[in-house]
Amino acid sequence: MRILFLFTFCFIKTISSTQRYESIFSFGDSLADTGNFLLSGALAFPVIGQLPYGETFFHRPTGRCSNGRLVIDFIAEAYGLPYVPPYLALAEGQKFQQGANFAVAGATALDAKFYYDQNIGSILWTNDSLSVQLGWFKQLKSTLCTTKQVCDNYFKKSLFLVGEIGGNDYNYAFFVGGSIKQLKAVVPLVVEAIAAVTSMLIEEGAMELVVPGNLPIGCSAVYLTLFQSPNKANYDQNGCLKAYNAFSKYHNAQLKLALQKLRQKYPQAKIIYADYYGAAKPSIHTPIHHGFLNGALMACCGGGGPYNFNNSARCGHTGSIACKDPSTYANWDGIHLTEAGYRYIAMGLINGLFTSPPLNSSPL
Ligand SMILES: *[C@@H]1O[C@H](CO)[C@@H](O)[C@H](O)[C@H]1NC(C)=O
Ligand SMILES: *[C@@H]1O[C@H](CO)[C@@H](O)[C@H](O)[C@H]1NC(C)=O
Repeated sequence: MRILFLFTFCFIKTISSTQRYESIFSFGDSLADTGNFLLSGALAFPVIGQLPYGETFFHRPTGRCSNGRLVIDFIAEAYGLPYVPPYLALAEGQKFQQGANFAVAGATALDAKFYYDQNIGSILWTNDSLSVQLGWFKQLKSTLCTTKQVCDNYFKKSLFLVGEIGGNDYNYAFFVGGSIKQLKAVVPLVVEAIAAVTSMLIEEGAMELVVPGNLPIGCSAVYLTLFQSPNKANYDQNGCLKAYNAFSKYHNAQLKLALQKLRQKYPQAKIIYADYYGAAKPSIHTPIHHGFLNGALMACCGGGGPYNFNNSARCGHTGSIACKDPSTYANWDGIHLTEAGYRYIAMGLINGLFTSPPLNSSPL
């Protein structure tokens, strides 16, 4: 009886989940890239094409900037969908009926032109900004559906993930010496770029969209290393850099306001804000309680230093090593999270606690 009951329970759950979304379309940067950057042939960060990247779950490098799955992978699993294939795998004969991932590691919300116009274009790893990714989506769309009615019906059952994106617009500038004050002036432009692509996707037929905010960058090993300070007052109770976390919050607050405006303009669409910052916070505040026995700030894979992030020996390069048990770390390579870190955030989104309005309940 007990076995029968469990079977029925699973069966019902599977049905409800597969009816929920039939495809996922994703845009963004390395937090969501499932292989595009590697396939694009850009050479700035080739180590993601080698172990230890991918060592934990896929047991091979897939182009994901982590040891395993990303937030998007856990979302796909939760809805009973296949892992979202990178768009640039089109040439390899991938089928995209259940969705495609346009995210590219290193991508910015603002167009590459913005950086080239300021003569800092050479710091970009990729020119495949959010608007380039939107262009790819439009190209793919013509192969997925033809009439407006067929497209609308198809996209009605799709989940759109618009990000995380924007983090690199700030990273690039901070890493070449930009100040928080200077970067605050860029926030409205970045937010506008994210909002513009979100509206264009709605115009193309998207009905359910998740738009993530930024992570607390002041808790990231790369920021903690590059901007470390002898002044204890610059750190919060969790050991994170207050000013940089405040910057992330500033971006997130502006993004939330922009999404509120979009909801008024497009009442038929469900525009969901994903609070990556809030979802990550408990793991940073009490890491051990959440299974991160080695804390949330120290990178698993790196070349030494107080946060195990060493710019001269980054994860995958000579002089770096990966930790034995990445499941006890939230930070993977100083910049990106471990699979465990991403899973932790994904669960906070899927269970609805850190998505507003909540992401529809899933089988998990
Ligand atoms: C980006 O575009 C610029 C200008 O068109 C070009 O010089 C550069 O090589 C491109 N960068 C990448 C990473 O593709
Ligand atoms: C960073 O890496 C370089 C190159 O491997 C090494 O010489 C240096 O000692 C490392 N720094 C720290 C703090 O471990």
